[in-house]
Amino acid sequence: METAGCQIERAQAADIDAMLNLWRCIPGIGISKGDTVQSLRGFMDKNPSACLILRIDGRLIGTVLGGFDGRRGYIYHLAVHPDYRGRGYGKALLDRVCRELNALGAPKIHLFAFNDNQAAATFYPSQGWEERRDIRVYSWDANRSRG
Ligand SMILES: CC(C)(COP(=O)(O)OP(=O)(O)OC[C@H]1O[C@@H](n2cnc3c(N)ncnc32)[C@H](O)[C@@H]1OP(=O)(O)O)[C@@H](O)C(=O)NCCC(=O)NCCS
Repeated sequence: METAGCQIERAQAADIDAMLNLWRCIPGIGISKGDTVQSLRGFMDKNPSACLILRIDGRLIGTVLGGFDGRRGYIYHLAVHPDYRGRGYGKALLDRVCRELNALGAPKIHLFAFNDNQAAATFYPSQGWEERRDIRVYSWDANRSRG
């Protein structure tokens, strides 16, 4: 897909190092234990149509990971390189991943953002996303001692 002179493509295993490098320089993206090369490769293998990158002149400048669990869609790591923001690339990636997840059968899509992520707090509502105030996120970590 051509968007304002750039290409949105399916992410490939060969892109993972460049994706991690992009995320490492973006404070709003929390790189976690789920972001090893191996786990990213597994996620991309399961969701090939919804894991997307955006290139300009061959340089990877945007990412989004979409996943469908059979009931809901989830979006992770929507990011545009700081030098390329405000040109519609974030919107293009978000629109495309939503279309792909919808095509897989996800009628509804969720995402998580840190409370202090001001870009997310403004960007998502501007794109028609509703901030949920009626739910909490609970996490369970198999590797953490439950004392
Ligand atoms: C959020 C992010 C992906 C937006 O990318 P972008 O390419 O700058 O966004 P766009 O240029 O497509 O902007 C689309 C719209 O959102 C608005 N917008 C984008 N970022 C904004 C910001 N920080 N504050 C206010 N409005 C913003 C734009 O004004 C634009 O509005 P319009 O459609 O009315 O013109 C980018 O800021 C980013 O990578 N942030 C760091 C990573 C992050 O926090 N990701 C989200 C959490 S998972």
